[in-house]
Amino acid sequence: MTEKNPFRIMTREHYPIIEVASVLSAMRTTHDIDSETLRMVIEFIRKFADLYHHEKEEKVVFEQAKKKRIDTSPIDAMEKEHEMTRSRVREALASLEKGDLKNAIVNLREWANFIPDHIDRENHSLFPGLDMVFGENEREILLREFSRIDLELGNFREMQEFADKIFADILSKTGNAIVEARAIPKEDRDEFVVRLANLMPENTVMTVMYDEKSEELERRLEEFEIEEIKKRGVYAFRIRKTRNQ
Ligand SMILES: [Fe+2]
Ligand SMILES: [Fe+2]
Repeated sequence: MTEKNPFRIMTREHYPIIEVASVLSAMRTTHDIDSETLRMVIEFIRKFADLYHHEKEEKVVFEQAKKKRIDTSPIDAMEKEHEMTRSRVREALASLEKGDLKNAIVNLREWANFIPDHIDRENHSLFPGLDMVFGENEREILLREFSRIDLELGNFREMQEFADKIFADILSKTGNAIVEARAIPKEDRDEFVVRLANLMPENTVMTVMYDEKSEELERRLEEFEIEEIKKRGVYAFRIRKTRNQ
């Protein structure tokens, strides 16, 4: 069934972005990442996060929200953060063009370390708040504009496939990913983690920042080696995929 809630659509577009951030935040300047791979990452962020997703967010959702009599300061803050994240990506591209791969990695990692927090606030605070104050007609306007952007700038399936390719490709080179699963709403969190686990190449490790222990999730991941850890005071676990799994 096609999703009819515009805020759910926006929330789900964040998942491939978190997926890509997971492999970037575990990337070190000592890792041997070629310029083609970095170019692919920048293309993903620019095309799907900055253009496709931000177009919907800034020019449609935020624009409509500003017409309402609500406190728009959280929206202004989000827009400032968008500008900040876009400048990291511009910097990464400029470094890549100069052949400075190390600085490109530093900037992409900064982007990746920041973006889950931004997405968390949109998913768990801004969008649920707007969801309560948008009426039927305004939702129709959002959905119509989303369809126009889907025709002009790409679509979710293409975004997801690109993210999967980047995730598996970089993970095979670095061996590590750090997944900020807390940014994903609870109802989709397990599915998200299981999806990523199934994309893991052999002999790689994924650290998942979760929230609280979930036996249901562990059951779904029983073919993987799981180790519970505490990371920065947060419940987290490590999933390892070895050759014979
Ligand atoms: Fe945003
Ligand atoms: Fe967003």
